[in-house]
Formats: sequence, C-alpha cells, structure tokens
Amino acid sequence: MSGSDDSGAKPWGGRFTEPTDAFVEAFTASQTFDRRLYRHDIMGSRAHARMLTAVGVLTDAELDAILEGLDGVEGDIDAGRFEWNDALEDVHMHIEHALTQRIGDAGKKLHTGRSRNDQVATDLRLYLRDAIDGLATELRRLCEGLLEQAGRHPDAVMPGFTHLQTAQPVTFGHHMLAWFEMLLRDADRLMDCRRRTNVMPLGAAALAGTPYPIDRNMTADLLGFERPAENSLDAVSDRDFAIEFCHWGATTMMHLSRMSEELVLWTSPAFDFVDLPDRFCTGSSIMPQKKNPDVPELVRGKTGRVNGHLMGLLTLMKSQPLAYNKDNQEDKEPLFDTVDTLAGSLRAFADMIPAIEIKPENMADRARKGFATATDLADYLVRKGVAFRDAHEIVGKTVRKAIDENCDIAELSLYDLQQFSSAIEQDVYAVLTLEGSAASRDHLGGTAPDQVRAATKRGHNRLNQTLPL
Ligand code: ARG
Repeated sequence: MSGSDDSGAKPWGGRFTEPTDAFVEAFTASQTFDRRLYRHDIMGSRAHARMLTAVGVLTDAELDAILEGLDGVEGDIDAGRFEWNDALEDVHMHIEHALTQRIGDAGKKLHTGRSRNDQVATDLRLYLRDAIDGLATELRRLCEGLLEQAGRHPDAVMPGFTHLQTAQPVTFGHHMLAWFEMLLRDADRLMDCRRRTNVMPLGAAALAGTPYPIDRNMTADLLGFERPAENSLDAVSDRDFAIEFCHWGATTMMHLSRMSEELVLWTSPAFDFVDLPDRFCTGSSIMPQKKNPDVPELVRGKTGRVNGHLMGLLTLMKSQPLAYNKDNQEDKEPLFDTVDTLAGSLRAFADMIPAIEIKPENMADRARKGFATATDLADYLVRKGVAFRDAHEIVGKTVRKAIDENCDIAELSLYDLQQFSSAIEQDVYAVLTLEGSAASRDHLGGTAPDQVRAATKRGHNRLNQTLPL
C-alpha cells in the first residue's frame, strides 16, 4: 500500500523512488496533535516573510500575497473548514500546502532560509509563552484567594500538626499563608521559565544556519522574543525549556496535591474543619449522606500524569545527539497535556479557595482535645526557672492526668496542676488558652494574628512583584 493522492506529493519526493508506506505515513504523522500550533506557526511565518522581504529575498508583491494567503488559511482553520490528513504529516506542511494552493508560486518561497526544524522549535516556544501567560493569570487568582482567606481568618485557631498528630495551635490564616508561600515560589519559577522560553530559534534553519542574508534580530523583534538563540545546533535540538516547564508543572501539582490532601482531611466528618460549597462536590449514587470532595481528589490524582510527563520529556531528550532528531516530535503531547492539566487544576482551585467556609469551634475544640498548648505550659515553667527537660517531664505527667480525667489541661484545677510542680501559679491559665498560645508566637513568620495580618499585607506586594499585572 502506498500513501495517498495529490497532497501526498511530498516536499522531499525528488529523492525517493517509491511512495511512503501508508502505515508509516500514519505512524510518523503529527498533524493530529500539532495542529494545535497553527496560530503560532502562522505568526512565525508572517514574521519570517516580513524579514525576508526587508532583506530583499522576497518582493513586496510576494509578501502581500503571502500575508493575505496566511490570513485566509488561518480563517479556514479557525472556522473548522480546513482539511487535515496524514499525507501532509504535520501542521507546518499543511499550512504551506494550503498557502501555495491559495496564492501559487509565492507560497513556495515562504520556506526560503527556514526549515521545519527551526520552525517547530519556534512554534513551540511561542505557544508555551502564551500558555505560561494564561497559567500565570490563574495562579495569580489562586494566590489572591489564599490572601483573601488569610485576611478573613487571621485569628481562628486550629491544631497545627506534625506527624498528623496535634502539635501546637496555629491560626487558619497562617496555614493559608503557608500555601501562599509554596505557590508564590511556583509563580517565581514560572516567570523564570518564561524568560528562557522566550528565545528565538528561527534562522537556525535545519541545523547550521542559512546562506541567505537574514536579519534574526528583526524576526525576533516582530515575534516579541527577547533575543535570537545564539547557536543554531542548540536552537533546533534542545527542549530543555519544555522540560523546565514540566518541572514547574510537577512542582505546582505537588503543592496542589498537598493542599488537596488537607482539604480532603478537613472536610471529612472525622475532622469537620471546613465546608466546601456543594458546587465543588458530588454525592454518592448509593450512600445518601455522602458529599465527596471530588475537586481536591481529582487534582491530587492528576499530579501523577504531570510527573509522568516530566519523566517522559527528560527521557526523550536523554542521550540525543545534536542536532534535530525525529524523537523531538514526541515533545508535544506531554507538553500540551501538562498545560491543560495545570490550567484546569489552577482554575478549579482559584474558584474554590475563596469559597471555603471554616468551622472555628470544631477546629478549636480539636486543638484542645489534642493538648495543643502542652508546649506552652513547658515554656511557662521555663520562664518560672524550671529547666526545659524537667519542664517536659512535668508537662508529660500533667497531660497523662488530663487524659485520665478526660479533660483539657486548662480544665485541671490549680491544686491538681501544683501536684506536678510548685512553680505553677494562677497565671498559668493565660498561657493554656489557644488564643494566648497563638498570640505569643509574635515574630516574623510566626502564627500570631498580628503577624498574619502583616504577612497578608506584604503578600499582596510580593505577589505584585512576582506576577506583575
Ligand atoms: N513534525 C516535526 C516535529 O514535530 C517537525 C519537524 C520535522 N523535521 C524533520 N526534519 N523531519 O518535530
């Protein structure tokens, strides 16, 4: 079996004595997925044609025909009128073929001084730059939602955990700001990745550059690239910008999965710390009482595929000799899926976070039951002159007594407390409250409500610096 008809007249046909095997044609084609790059491919072609005209390789009339033709092709694809088939392999050949059908010989000149190798690397960078800008907007919205929650609840006390065991009281706002810090670092990493993505391969041609008198600075300016890539071999071959992006994606999903896990715990009846609005949850077809936190669970689950894409791209690039190899056609699907997964997950979280309602009584109750202020009692004893190790021992016995009495240590009588240490006086009750405990951690980075208020304010400025509007 041979490849198909008229559109099957390959651009490299001259050197071949038989048509491409039909299965090989389908196997090697990328048009089913790389058609997603069509706008960026056309954008790159417009700039390339303008530059070729400026340096005298194309005439003004040819440029006009090419620009008009490209508009027509783009309009056809936008409107879903465009015909795609494996014979034309990829998005680049489809667009060039359609252009030539529309405008004739001028269309055949567009590829002068260019190769699909620098073309695809350019398309991908243009695509990713736009994707990054879209993702930055969602990430910004999510960070704002976290600051909003922190601003709403600087003083609601909940148990802070280590080993998922009640450790010390923390404020809910402080917890929201911990999530904010993780995501602000992700925002910073995303902008860093954008900077290295925004470099232009065009002009590298197949691998060695081109004999035409091209002006790469002009093309780069037209496309909004920061600069042309320095080395033609590197420009067509490396996909480290895509790997870096997927690393950003994997790290951001890892953070979202941690937030997800806590939301799943907090919404379970065993914790009952927060309520997610019904619109972010689903029910059970068999258990009428259920309200499941599907959005956080799904985001937690989607973390796996993004990790997979990072491993996939690292492995794709590993050991590839310079310069371009067909292996690199495999870069697109993992990259696209990473963009889509992050776009969906960030959007879901940005919508959901500001809508979370907290249950402060349940949180405080649980902090008390877990003896969250035990460390505060030890610190109190130290202030009264007891050595920390002895204080630890005294508090341990006090907690034992409270467990036996089934009450909080703050509910033990002064007489009971003094059985463990004569250093304990009436003023102990001030430090045994959750509010007193939280308020006492009153330094930069601490959980005190005043610190949470100040950190929230700084957070807005830091967000504006990291992701300027
Ligand atoms: N479809 C190819 C890709 O995605 C475009 C570049 C093809 N270049 C080549 N010399 N076969 O990588």
